[in-house]
Amino acid sequence: MRIYLDHNATTPLRDEVIEASAAALRDLYGNPSSTHAEGAAARAALARAREQVAGCLGVAPGGVYFTSGASESNNSVLRALAGGASAVTRLVISNVEHPSVVEPAAWLEKCGVGVTRLSVDAEGLLEPDAVADAAAGADLVSLIWANNETGVVQPMQAIAERLREIGVPLHVDATQAVGKWPVDMKRVPVDWLSCSAHKLNGPKGVGCLAVAEGRDIEPLVLGGGQERGRRGGTENIPGIVGFGVACELARAECGARMQRYAALRDRLWDGIRKRVPRVRRNGAADRVLPNTLNLEIEGTPGEVLLEALDLEGVAVSAGAACHSGSVKASHVLSAMGRTPEQARASLRLSVGHGNDAGQIDRVVEILETLVRRAREAA
Ligand SMILES: Cc1ncc(COP(=O)(O)O)c(C=O)c1O
Repeated sequence: MRIYLDHNATTPLRDEVIEASAAALRDLYGNPSSTHAEGAAARAALARAREQVAGCLGVAPGGVYFTSGASESNNSVLRALAGGASAVTRLVISNVEHPSVVEPAAWLEKCGVGVTRLSVDAEGLLEPDAVADAAAGADLVSLIWANNETGVVQPMQAIAERLREIGVPLHVDATQAVGKWPVDMKRVPVDWLSCSAHKLNGPKGVGCLAVAEGRDIEPLVLGGGQERGRRGGTENIPGIVGFGVACELARAECGARMQRYAALRDRLWDGIRKRVPRVRRNGAADRVLPNTLNLEIEGTPGEVLLEALDLEGVAVSAGAACHSGSVKASHVLSAMGRTPEQARASLRLSVGHGNDAGQIDRVVEILETLVRRAREAA
Protein backbone atom coordinates (compact mmCIF):
# COMPACT_ATOMS: atom_id res chain seq x y z
CA MET A 1 0.00 0.00 0.00
CA ARG A 2 1.38 3.39 -0.96
CA ILE A 3 1.53 6.24 1.54
CA TYR A 4 0.47 9.62 0.18
CA LEU A 5 2.03 12.58 2.03
CA ASP A 6 1.60 15.21 -0.69
CA HIS A 7 -1.79 16.70 0.19
CA ASN A 8 -0.61 20.25 -0.54
CA ALA A 9 -0.10 19.23 -4.18
CA THR A 10 -3.56 17.73 -4.43
CA THR A 11 -5.87 15.58 -2.35
CA PRO A 12 -7.77 12.34 -2.85
CA LEU A 13 -11.52 12.77 -3.27
CA ARG A 14 -13.86 12.05 -0.40
CA ASP A 15 -16.44 9.32 -1.07
CA GLU A 16 -19.26 11.82 -0.54
CA VAL A 17 -17.75 14.02 -3.29
CA ILE A 18 -17.33 11.12 -5.72
CA GLU A 19 -20.95 10.05 -5.20
CA ALA A 20 -22.34 13.56 -5.67
CA SER A 21 -20.18 14.29 -8.74
CA ALA A 22 -20.95 10.90 -10.30
CA ALA A 23 -24.69 11.42 -9.83
CA ALA A 24 -24.38 14.88 -11.41
CA LEU A 25 -22.38 13.47 -14.35
CA ARG A 26 -25.09 10.90 -14.95
CA ASP A 27 -28.26 12.85 -14.20
CA LEU A 28 -27.58 16.57 -14.43
CA TYR A 29 -26.67 16.79 -18.08
CA GLY A 30 -28.90 19.78 -18.76
CA ASN A 31 -27.34 23.13 -19.54
CA PRO A 32 -28.01 25.43 -16.58
CA SER A 33 -28.75 28.25 -19.02
CA SER A 34 -31.60 26.28 -20.64
CA THR A 35 -35.16 27.06 -19.65
CA HIS A 36 -36.49 23.47 -19.78
CA ALA A 37 -36.69 21.04 -16.85
CA GLU A 38 -33.24 19.51 -17.50
CA GLY A 39 -31.74 23.00 -17.44
CA ALA A 40 -33.64 23.88 -14.28
CA ALA A 41 -32.31 20.76 -12.51
CA ALA A 42 -28.73 21.71 -13.35
CA ARG A 43 -29.40 25.30 -12.32
CA ALA A 44 -30.76 24.17 -8.95
CA ALA A 45 -27.64 22.06 -8.34
CA LEU A 46 -25.48 25.07 -9.22
CA ALA A 47 -27.39 27.25 -6.76
CA ARG A 48 -27.07 24.64 -4.02
CA ALA A 49 -23.30 24.31 -4.56
CA ARG A 50 -22.95 28.10 -4.51
CA GLU A 51 -24.60 28.15 -1.10
CA GLN A 52 -22.34 25.38 0.21
CA VAL A 53 -19.18 27.13 -0.98
CA ALA A 54 -20.39 30.50 0.30
CA GLY A 55 -21.18 28.98 3.70
CA CYS A 56 -17.67 27.58 3.96
CA LEU A 57 -16.02 30.92 3.08
CA GLY A 58 -18.33 33.24 5.01
CA VAL A 59 -19.53 35.23 2.00
CA ALA A 60 -22.97 35.76 0.47
CA PRO A 61 -23.83 33.14 -2.21
CA GLY A 62 -24.07 35.96 -4.76
CA GLY A 63 -20.38 36.68 -4.13
CA VAL A 64 -19.23 33.24 -5.32
CA TYR A 65 -18.10 32.95 -8.96
CA PHE A 66 -17.09 29.48 -10.09
CA THR A 67 -13.87 29.18 -12.08
CA SER A 68 -11.60 26.37 -13.30
CA GLY A 69 -9.50 26.68 -10.13
CA ALA A 70 -7.33 29.04 -8.15
CA SER A 71 -4.95 29.82 -11.03
CA GLU A 72 -7.85 31.25 -13.01
CA SER A 73 -9.22 33.08 -9.96
CA ASN A 74 -5.82 34.65 -9.25
CA ASN A 75 -5.36 35.61 -12.90
CA SER A 76 -8.86 37.08 -13.00
CA VAL A 77 -8.17 39.45 -10.13
CA LEU A 78 -4.73 40.54 -11.27
CA ARG A 79 -5.44 40.80 -14.96
CA ALA A 80 -8.68 42.68 -14.32
CA LEU A 81 -6.43 45.43 -13.01
CA ALA A 82 -5.01 46.00 -16.46
CA GLY A 83 -8.19 45.37 -18.40
CA GLY A 84 -10.55 47.28 -16.14
CA ALA A 85 -11.85 50.78 -16.54
CA SER A 86 -9.81 52.13 -13.62
CA ALA A 87 -6.34 53.48 -14.29
CA VAL A 88 -4.30 51.17 -12.13
CA THR A 89 -0.71 51.96 -11.43
CA ARG A 90 0.48 50.03 -8.40
CA LEU A 91 0.21 46.46 -7.15
CA VAL A 92 1.75 44.95 -4.01
CA ILE A 93 2.47 41.23 -3.64
CA SER A 94 4.93 39.24 -1.50
CA ASN A 95 7.98 37.33 -2.67
CA VAL A 96 6.47 33.97 -1.63
CA GLU A 97 3.42 33.94 -3.91
CA HIS A 98 2.23 31.04 -6.02
CA PRO A 99 3.25 31.22 -9.71
CA SER A 100 -0.37 32.03 -10.62
CA VAL A 101 0.18 35.39 -8.89
CA VAL A 102 3.91 35.80 -9.63
CA GLU A 103 3.45 35.50 -13.38
CA PRO A 104 0.41 37.77 -13.85
CA ALA A 105 2.23 40.35 -11.67
CA ALA A 106 5.26 40.14 -13.96
CA TRP A 107 2.94 40.53 -16.96
CA LEU A 108 1.33 43.61 -15.37
CA GLU A 109 4.77 45.05 -14.79
CA LYS A 110 5.49 44.71 -18.50
CA CYS A 111 2.22 46.58 -19.13
CA GLY A 112 3.52 49.48 -17.02
CA VAL A 113 2.01 48.71 -13.60
CA GLY A 114 4.43 49.29 -10.69
CA VAL A 115 4.83 46.07 -8.70
CA THR A 116 6.19 46.04 -5.14
CA ARG A 117 7.33 42.64 -3.88
CA LEU A 118 7.37 42.46 -0.09
CA SER A 119 10.04 40.39 1.63
CA VAL A 120 9.16 37.79 4.24
CA ASP A 121 11.42 37.14 7.23
CA ALA A 122 13.51 34.00 7.78
CA GLU A 123 10.39 32.24 9.12
CA GLY A 124 8.40 33.09 5.99
CA LEU A 125 6.21 35.71 7.67
CA LEU A 126 5.05 39.18 6.68
CA GLU A 127 4.67 41.96 9.19
CA PRO A 128 1.23 43.69 9.04
CA ASP A 129 2.56 47.22 9.62
CA ALA A 130 5.22 46.76 6.94
CA VAL A 131 2.52 45.55 4.52
CA ALA A 132 0.39 48.61 5.27
CA ASP A 133 3.37 50.98 4.90
CA ALA A 134 4.27 49.53 1.51
CA ALA A 135 0.62 49.47 0.41
CA ALA A 136 -0.17 53.13 1.03
CA GLY A 137 -1.48 54.51 -2.27
CA ALA A 138 -1.49 51.12 -4.05
CA ASP A 139 -4.49 49.94 -6.10
CA LEU A 140 -4.37 46.34 -4.93
CA VAL A 141 -2.53 44.08 -2.51
CA SER A 142 -2.51 40.37 -3.39
CA LEU A 143 -1.17 37.93 -0.78
CA ILE A 144 -1.07 34.21 -0.19
CA TRP A 145 -2.80 33.27 3.09
CA ALA A 146 -1.06 29.92 3.71
CA ASN A 147 1.99 29.01 1.70
CA ASN A 148 1.80 25.87 -0.41
CA GLU A 149 5.46 24.94 0.14
CA THR A 150 6.12 25.77 3.79
CA GLY A 151 2.53 25.91 5.10
CA VAL A 152 3.38 29.23 6.80
CA VAL A 153 0.16 31.12 7.56
CA GLN A 154 0.31 34.91 7.27
CA PRO A 155 -1.28 37.06 10.00
CA MET A 156 -4.12 37.79 7.59
CA GLN A 157 -6.61 39.17 10.09
CA ALA A 158 -4.17 41.91 11.15
CA ILE A 159 -3.02 42.56 7.56
CA ALA A 160 -6.60 42.81 6.26
CA GLU A 161 -7.64 45.14 9.08
CA ARG A 162 -4.64 47.42 8.51
CA LEU A 163 -5.36 47.58 4.77
CA ARG A 164 -9.05 48.26 5.39
CA GLU A 165 -8.04 51.17 7.65
CA ILE A 166 -5.98 52.77 4.88
CA GLY A 167 -8.53 51.92 2.17
CA VAL A 168 -6.40 49.59 0.02
CA PRO A 169 -8.24 46.58 -1.47
CA LEU A 170 -6.96 43.09 -0.69
CA HIS A 171 -7.03 39.88 -2.71
CA VAL A 172 -6.08 36.73 -0.85
CA ASP A 173 -5.03 33.40 -2.33
CA ALA A 174 -6.59 31.09 0.27
CA THR A 175 -6.12 27.91 -1.78
CA GLN A 176 -4.10 26.08 0.89
CA ALA A 177 -5.96 27.54 3.85
CA VAL A 178 -9.54 26.50 3.11
CA GLY A 179 -10.37 23.28 4.96
CA LYS A 180 -7.17 23.34 7.02
CA TRP A 181 -7.40 26.74 8.68
CA PRO A 182 -10.37 28.91 9.72
CA VAL A 183 -11.31 31.07 6.72
CA ASP A 184 -14.21 33.42 7.25
CA MET A 185 -14.68 36.50 5.09
CA LYS A 186 -17.17 37.84 7.65
CA ARG A 187 -14.38 38.00 10.19
CA VAL A 188 -11.35 38.77 8.02
CA PRO A 189 -12.05 41.77 5.76
CA VAL A 190 -10.81 40.43 2.44
CA ASP A 191 -12.17 41.88 -0.83
CA TRP A 192 -11.47 38.93 -3.16
CA LEU A 193 -10.52 35.38 -2.23
CA SER A 194 -9.33 32.54 -4.47
CA CYS A 195 -9.69 28.86 -3.71
CA SER A 196 -9.62 25.50 -5.40
CA ALA A 197 -11.65 22.31 -4.89
CA HIS A 198 -8.83 19.81 -5.40
CA LYS A 199 -6.93 21.02 -2.34
CA LEU A 200 -9.85 20.11 -0.07
CA ASN A 201 -10.76 16.62 -1.27
CA GLY A 202 -12.86 17.91 -4.15
CA PRO A 203 -12.44 17.45 -7.91
CA LYS A 204 -9.72 19.01 -10.06
CA GLY A 205 -10.43 21.80 -12.52
CA VAL A 206 -12.91 23.71 -10.39
CA GLY A 207 -12.61 26.50 -7.85
CA CYS A 208 -13.98 29.91 -7.19
CA LEU A 209 -13.37 33.56 -6.71
CA ALA A 210 -15.28 34.88 -3.70
CA VAL A 211 -16.08 38.58 -3.89
CA ALA A 212 -17.02 40.61 -0.81
CA GLU A 213 -20.19 42.68 -0.81
CA GLY A 214 -19.71 46.02 -2.56
CA ARG A 215 -16.82 44.71 -4.71
CA ASP A 216 -17.00 43.52 -8.30
CA ILE A 217 -14.70 41.84 -10.78
CA GLU A 218 -14.07 42.33 -14.49
CA PRO A 219 -14.49 39.00 -16.32
CA LEU A 220 -11.33 37.29 -17.56
CA VAL A 221 -13.28 34.89 -19.77
CA LEU A 222 -15.84 36.68 -21.89
CA GLY A 223 -18.59 34.66 -23.49
CA GLY A 224 -22.13 33.56 -22.92
CA GLY A 225 -22.85 35.63 -19.84
CA GLN A 226 -22.63 32.74 -17.36
CA GLU A 227 -21.89 33.45 -13.70
CA ARG A 228 -23.90 36.65 -13.98
CA GLY A 229 -21.65 37.90 -16.74
CA ARG A 230 -18.46 37.41 -14.76
CA ARG A 231 -17.20 34.17 -16.33
CA GLY A 232 -18.22 32.94 -19.74
CA GLY A 233 -18.49 29.20 -20.45
CA THR A 234 -20.97 26.43 -19.69
CA GLU A 235 -20.57 25.55 -16.04
CA ASN A 236 -18.76 22.37 -14.97
CA ILE A 237 -21.76 21.03 -13.08
CA PRO A 238 -20.28 17.70 -11.83
CA GLY A 239 -17.14 19.51 -10.65
CA ILE A 240 -19.09 22.32 -9.03
CA VAL A 241 -21.44 19.88 -7.28
CA GLY A 242 -18.42 18.00 -5.90
CA PHE A 243 -16.80 21.27 -4.84
CA GLY A 244 -19.99 22.16 -2.94
CA VAL A 245 -19.94 18.87 -1.05
CA ALA A 246 -16.21 19.21 -0.31
CA CYS A 247 -16.84 22.69 1.10
CA GLU A 248 -19.71 21.50 3.25
CA LEU A 249 -17.49 18.75 4.68
CA ALA A 250 -14.63 21.21 5.21
CA ARG A 251 -16.90 23.59 7.05
CA ALA A 252 -18.26 20.87 9.34
CA GLU A 253 -14.90 19.21 9.98
CA CYS A 254 -12.32 21.99 9.90
CA GLY A 255 -11.68 22.01 13.67
CA ALA A 256 -11.44 18.20 13.90
CA ARG A 257 -9.22 18.04 10.81
CA MET A 258 -6.86 20.60 12.25
CA GLN A 259 -6.43 18.50 15.38
CA ARG A 260 -6.06 15.21 13.55
CA TYR A 261 -3.59 16.56 10.97
CA ALA A 262 -1.53 18.35 13.61
CA ALA A 263 -1.26 15.14 15.66
CA LEU A 264 0.00 13.22 12.59
CA ARG A 265 2.34 16.00 11.47
CA ASP A 266 3.80 16.34 14.98
CA ARG A 267 4.29 12.57 15.24
CA LEU A 268 6.15 12.71 11.93
CA TRP A 269 8.36 15.58 13.07
CA ASP A 270 9.08 13.97 16.47
CA GLY A 271 10.04 10.71 14.79
CA ILE A 272 12.26 12.35 12.18
CA ARG A 273 13.93 14.67 14.64
CA LYS A 274 14.84 11.72 16.90
CA ARG A 275 16.07 9.42 14.16
CA VAL A 276 17.49 11.61 11.42
CA PRO A 277 20.48 13.76 12.39
CA ARG A 278 21.06 17.27 10.98
CA VAL A 279 17.51 18.11 10.06
CA ARG A 280 15.60 21.36 10.67
CA ARG A 281 12.17 22.75 9.91
CA ASN A 282 11.62 25.49 7.36
CA GLY A 283 9.08 28.14 8.34
CA ALA A 284 7.53 29.42 11.56
CA ALA A 285 6.59 26.24 13.48
CA ASP A 286 3.91 28.06 15.47
CA ARG A 287 2.34 29.77 12.44
CA VAL A 288 1.97 26.90 10.03
CA LEU A 289 -0.83 24.82 8.54
CA PRO A 290 -1.49 21.82 10.80
CA ASN A 291 -0.77 19.36 7.99
CA THR A 292 2.53 20.67 6.61
CA LEU A 293 6.13 19.81 7.46
CA ASN A 294 8.84 21.40 5.36
CA LEU A 295 12.30 20.11 6.25
CA GLU A 296 15.87 20.77 5.38
CA ILE A 297 17.78 17.51 5.54
CA GLU A 298 21.33 18.75 5.44
CA GLY A 299 23.39 17.66 2.49
CA THR A 300 20.67 15.45 0.99
CA PRO A 301 19.14 16.73 -2.26
CA GLY A 302 15.35 16.73 -1.97
CA GLU A 303 14.80 15.46 -5.50
CA VAL A 304 17.01 12.43 -4.78
CA LEU A 305 15.10 11.61 -1.59
CA LEU A 306 11.78 12.17 -3.37
CA GLU A 307 12.68 9.55 -5.96
CA ALA A 308 13.97 7.09 -3.37
CA LEU A 309 10.84 7.55 -1.23
CA ASP A 310 8.66 7.07 -4.29
CA LEU A 311 10.35 3.73 -4.97
CA GLU A 312 9.59 2.75 -1.36
CA GLY A 313 5.92 3.65 -1.88
CA VAL A 314 5.87 7.11 -0.29
CA ALA A 315 4.75 10.25 -2.17
CA VAL A 316 6.17 13.62 -1.01
CA SER A 317 7.35 16.79 -2.67
CA ALA A 318 10.76 18.49 -2.89
CA GLY A 319 11.78 22.12 -2.54
CA ALA A 320 13.45 22.08 -5.90
CA ALA A 321 12.00 21.20 -9.26
CA CYS A 322 13.78 19.77 -12.25
CA HIS A 323 13.17 21.70 -15.44
CA SER A 324 14.82 20.49 -18.63
CA GLY A 325 17.57 18.71 -16.76
CA SER A 326 18.54 21.57 -14.42
CA VAL A 327 17.46 21.89 -10.81
CA LYS A 328 15.74 25.14 -9.81
CA ALA A 329 15.62 25.97 -6.10
CA SER A 330 12.32 27.07 -4.55
CA HIS A 331 11.75 30.82 -4.74
CA VAL A 332 9.89 30.57 -1.42
CA LEU A 333 12.83 29.09 0.49
CA SER A 334 15.22 31.50 -1.26
CA ALA A 335 12.99 34.38 -0.12
CA MET A 336 13.40 33.10 3.44
CA GLY A 337 17.17 33.42 3.10
CA ARG A 338 18.02 29.80 2.38
CA THR A 339 21.03 29.20 0.14
CA PRO A 340 20.40 27.31 -3.13
CA GLU A 341 22.04 24.28 -1.53
CA GLN A 342 19.80 24.47 1.56
CA ALA A 343 16.70 24.98 -0.55
CA ARG A 344 17.70 21.99 -2.63
CA ALA A 345 17.97 19.87 0.52
CA SER A 346 14.34 20.48 1.43
CA LEU A 347 11.43 18.11 1.44
CA ARG A 348 7.73 18.86 1.93
CA LEU A 349 5.56 16.29 3.67
CA SER A 350 1.88 17.16 3.87
CA VAL A 351 -0.63 14.90 5.61
CA GLY A 352 -4.36 14.66 5.04
CA HIS A 353 -7.41 12.46 4.59
CA GLY A 354 -6.50 8.76 4.58
CA ASN A 355 -3.29 9.01 6.63
CA ASP A 356 -2.88 7.30 9.99
CA ALA A 357 -0.28 6.92 12.74
CA GLY A 358 0.96 3.58 11.37
CA GLN A 359 1.78 5.19 8.02
CA ILE A 360 3.61 8.02 9.74
CA ASP A 361 5.78 5.60 11.74
CA ARG A 362 6.57 3.67 8.57
CA VAL A 363 7.64 6.86 6.77
CA VAL A 364 9.96 7.79 9.65
CA GLU A 365 11.62 4.35 9.40
CA ILE A 366 11.99 4.55 5.62
CA LEU A 367 13.34 8.10 5.74
CA GLU A 368 15.92 7.22 8.39
CA THR A 369 17.30 4.44 6.18
CA LEU A 370 17.23 6.48 2.97
CA VAL A 371 18.94 9.52 4.47
CA ARG A 372 21.66 7.33 5.99
CA ARG A 373 22.22 5.66 2.62
CA ALA A 374 22.25 8.95 0.71
CA ARG A 375 24.77 10.44 3.12
CA GLU A 376 27.01 7.37 2.98
CA ALA A 377 26.91 7.48 -0.82
CA ALA A 378 27.84 11.17 -0.81
C1 LIG B 1 -1.42 28.62 -2.99
C2 LIG B 1 -1.91 28.13 -4.31
N1 LIG B 1 -2.47 28.99 -5.17
C3 LIG B 1 -2.93 28.61 -6.36
C4 LIG B 1 -2.83 27.30 -6.78
C5 LIG B 1 -3.38 26.91 -8.12
O1 LIG B 1 -4.54 26.16 -7.96
P1 LIG B 1 -5.21 25.37 -9.18
O2 LIG B 1 -4.46 24.10 -9.28
O3 LIG B 1 -6.62 25.19 -8.76
O4 LIG B 1 -5.11 26.23 -10.38
C6 LIG B 1 -2.25 26.36 -5.92
C7 LIG B 1 -2.07 24.95 -6.35
O5 LIG B 1 -1.00 24.44 -6.46
C8 LIG B 1 -1.78 26.79 -4.65
O6 LIG B 1 -1.20 25.93 -3.80
